[in-house]
This record gives sequence, structure tokens and C-alpha cells, in this order.
Amino acid sequence: MEPVNVAIIYYSATGTVHALAQAAAEGAEKAGAYVRLRKVAESAPPEAISAKPAWAGHLQDTADVAEAGLDDLDWADAVLFGTPTRFGNPASQLRAFIETTSGLWFHGKLADKVYSAFTASNTAHGGQESTLLALGNTFYHWGGIIVPPGYTDPVQFQSGNPYGTSHVAGDGPPSEVTLQAARHQARRVVDTTAVLKAGRAA
Ligand SMILES: Cc1cc2nc3c(=O)[nH]c(=O)nc-3n(C[C@H](O)[C@H](O)[C@H](O)COP(=O)(O)O)c2cc1C
Repeated sequence: MEPVNVAIIYYSATGTVHALAQAAAEGAEKAGAYVRLRKVAESAPPEAISAKPAWAGHLQDTADVAEAGLDDLDWADAVLFGTPTRFGNPASQLRAFIETTSGLWFHGKLADKVYSAFTASNTAHGGQESTLLALGNTFYHWGGIIVPPGYTDPVQFQSGNPYGTSHVAGDGPPSEVTLQAARHQARRVVDTTAVLKAGRAA
């Protein structure tokens, strides 16, 4: 079977979503996919970033992660998007990238791909599902095929978000269970995309 191209496109200010994105990349690679792990461009003013050491430090630590471009979306058979929750919505940095995609959308290049998403919030009831569902609005517009994790693996009953892997950053860094959930989500995306790709090629 021809390998699946997976783009993992994320924004992370202080590293939580980046950790989930890395776990998703591991899961997708282990499932046999070609993976591009890409951050979106930072747009916050330098003085806001430097006022928060964790933000400035993470930006520096991930300087070598390539920035997402439209070619990554074009290349991908499946895309996993990661974003922190910002007042119950995706971060503006990720939205800004998404809002550069009109040309691809207009030419039908975003349709029929598989999409899935993951997030982090500071508190347990801080808007994880609303953030993931908000991203889903865009996937509908693109004509995407949304593949959520649901409860398709025992790890989902421990980490518990059928909409997409989610972490409460206020509890500390993601646990091994949450990272496992991100790997599972990515594997499910790869497996589903592989079947679609093979079916279309037949
Ligand atoms: C402007 C702003 C809005 C936020 N809104 C929420 C929110 O609605 N609910 C919540 O639990 N956390 C909220 N947070 C906290 C972030 O979701 C949290 O810091 C983030 O998930 C950590 O991910 P990161 O380490 O990848 O940046 C907000 C943070 C900022 C800066």
C-alpha cells in the first residue's frame, strides 16, 4: 500500500501542544506514514513573548521546527491540527494560517483529505471540545473527512476526549497516557487515510 502523507500543523506558546504534536508525529510514523511536523508562524509582539519566560523559552527551543506552508497542506493526504484553547477557540496564530488557505480551498485542493485535531487548555472545563468543534467548522467548509478518536482504543477511556486528544496544562506536562492517546489518534488517521487512498487508487 502506498504510504500516507500526514502533516501535523500546530501552534504552541509554552510547549504543551508541541508535546502532543510530537506524540502524534511518532504515532503517524509508527503507522507507516510520511510525516511533516510544522509549527505555524508566531505573530505575538516580541514584548508580550519576552514577558513570559516559558513562552520565550519554548519559541527558542523550537526554532528548528519548520514553519507550516500551503505546500504542506497540498502535499498531505491527512492533516492533524493542534492548538491551545483561547477563550474556548483555536489560537489566532493557527487561525491566521488557516485564513491563508482560500486559494487551495477555491481549487478544491483541501477537499477529501482526512482531518483531525487536538488541544490543550489550562483548566478541565476550559473549552477543549468547543475549540476542537470550532476547527471542525473549517473542515466542513473544506469538504474534509473528519476522523475523531472516539472511544476506539482502551487509552481513550483513560484520557477521555473522543473529540480529539486534549490536555489540561494546569496539571503539568502531558502524561504518558495522554501522549499515548495522541499516538493512537494519529495512527487512526493514518489507517483511515490509507484505506481511502487505496480505494481511490483502485
Ligand atoms: C489569551 C488566552 C486565552 C486562554 N483561554 C483559555 C480558556 O478559554 N480556557 C482554558 O482553560 N485555558 C485558556 N488559556 C490557557 C491556554 O489554553 C493554555 O495556556 C494552553 O493550553 C497551553 O498550551 P501551550 O503550552 O501549547 O501553549 C488561555 C490562554 C491565553 C493566553
